[in-house]
Amino acid sequence: MLKTIQKFFAFCGEDNRRKFHASVLLGVLQAVFQALRIPAIACMVRALLSGAVTGRDILMSFAIMLVSIAGAGIAKAKATMLQCEAGYGTCANKRVEIAEHMRYLPMGYFNENSLGQITSVTTNVMENLENVATRVVMLVCEGLLTTTLIIVMLLFFDVRIALVLTVGFAAFLLANRFLQKAAGSMAGRKIEADERLVEKVLEYLQGMAEVKAYHLSGQKSRELNDAIAANVKVNTDMELTLIPRMNAQNLVAKLTGVCMVAFSCAYYCAGTMDTLTAVVMVISAFIVNASLETAGNYSALLRVVDMSVDRASEILKTPQMDITGEEIEPENRDICANELEFSYDKRRILDGITLRVPERTTTAIVGPSGGGKTTLVNLLARFWDADSGEVTLGGRNVKDYDMDSLMKNYSFVFQNVYLFHDTIANNIRFGQPEAGMDEVIAAAKKACCHDFISAMPGGYDTVIGEGGASLSGGEKQRISIARVILKDPKILILDEATSALDSISESSIQDALEHMMQGRTSIVIAHRLTTILKADSILVVKDGVIAEQGTHDELLAKNGVYRELYETQFRKVIEMETEH
Ligand SMILES: Nc1ncnc2c1ncn2[C@@H]1O[C@H](COP(=O)(O)OP(=O)(O)OP(=O)(O)O)[C@@H](O)[C@H]1O
Ligand SMILES: [Mg+2]
Repeated sequence: MLKTIQKFFAFCGEDNRRKFHASVLLGVLQAVFQALRIPAIACMVRALLSGAVTGRDILMSFAIMLVSIAGAGIAKAKATMLQCEAGYGTCANKRVEIAEHMRYLPMGYFNENSLGQITSVTTNVMENLENVATRVVMLVCEGLLTTTLIIVMLLFFDVRIALVLTVGFAAFLLANRFLQKAAGSMAGRKIEADERLVEKVLEYLQGMAEVKAYHLSGQKSRELNDAIAANVKVNTDMELTLIPRMNAQNLVAKLTGVCMVAFSCAYYCAGTMDTLTAVVMVISAFIVNASLETAGNYSALLRVVDMSVDRASEILKTPQMDITGEEIEPENRDICANELEFSYDKRRILDGITLRVPERTTTAIVGPSGGGKTTLVNLLARFWDADSGEVTLGGRNVKDYDMDSLMKNYSFVFQNVYLFHDTIANNIRFGQPEAGMDEVIAAAKKACCHDFISAMPGGYDTVIGEGGASLSGGEKQRISIARVILKDPKILILDEATSALDSISESSIQDALEHMMQGRTSIVIAHRLTTILKADSILVVKDGVIAEQGTHDELLAKNGVYRELYETQFRKVIEMETEH
């Protein structure tokens, strides 16, 4: 129990930890104020026993009670405020820290961990920490400290009753150990079930079109229902396992109170305890019982807190791609790769690739599907690190750069464009947040998307659905091109869309792309014949190596892989283009 509390405080960070500590102390202070009820009542009891209740007695008792209520109220308000500040502060900091940390994780991390798992940590787990952990840790700490404080106080009144309470407290901690043990095995299952539920909900929503198209709504919703049912079962099991143990623990707390009262009565009857002390003992027994019961009930959730802290820390401990690099302004934008080798898990994808892309030239990468083209450009931009070999930008290894100064040079247009749930204007100024509206419009015009944006009811202020759900594929692509034009990077990496677009958007995208590539170092995974023909150099990637390299005419003359690819892949395109 103490270990978890310590772990939670260590997780919170210096500033918030201080606030939590202050909040716990205020909680104890609140208990002290509450305990003032004892002298207030004692005052009246003494007066009643003496047979002559004076106005002074009543006033005294009233004054103490007033101090008790006001003090406890103020301490509680302040403690709650600090606790909320520290709780939300911790989680806000951790969310930012996790997001920052993830920026520097190798893409392999996202391969190994499902989106559901990661989402669950950043939502469920953090919510657990925000709402549950804060309350649980505070109440448990307060309960334990209050009981300890009462033991110390009782030592001054009657050592015998202090001893009874100490034995009861020890028995309570023992019962709590059993509870914690059972909770430990359940907490892992609970967090896993929560993760699986998030994963299934995400999968169901993201794949909604496929689910409908393939009439899978029954099967997919069955999977989702199963995940929901499993989640309910785990939560129910957890309650059913913990309730008997919690009851046993509460019984110990109650028995402790009962023993305190019984012993006090016995000593009073035997004449070894005066009336006043007996009354104080009885009231203390009630306070102890209440604080132990609260601490005990909430402590069942400590294991969830423990696991939540572990889950969040796990992400933060995942080694980042070494970000020890410096801020470097490359001398030029030549990109070179030397003997690159790379495997996903154990599957070799790139098997010794050496290439050179001179500054301000366009290199087209072609090759059969699955040949490793996307993988290669991912290595060139350091989304992944190669297993061996090196990539250089401007003569310096990409690992020498810090992530930000490296990424500043690149822009990407991916096959699948992702747009954020925000206005079109903000999506365009994503890489250049301070850009003015006129710059955004100029970029949109160059990317051939000004017309369709203006035709929208909200124009540039139209809010796009998450992922760009409310736009067509071609529109999304043109917006992503406008984004790149506005960022004005020196290097452009482009994975051309293979999806068939209508000829109007096809040609406007082509215009936009050509505009974008002017004067930049461009690496294009090319599917369009026009792009390939205009490239300064063509690399044919096949089976993890560069099978051929040269200009279109040189490669055709070789009569090799390129020619074969050209004839199979582009015959239709050539026919269509000659028809136009
Ligand atoms: N994240 C990944 N994890 C594991 N394997 C992957 C991953 N991405 C790609 N692969 C595998 O690596 C191989 C090369 O993939 P890559 O995406 O580089 O091919 P490509 O040449 O770009 O194909 P395409 O023309 O179809 O886009 C494929 O066999 C693919 O299954
Ligand atoms: Mg690809």
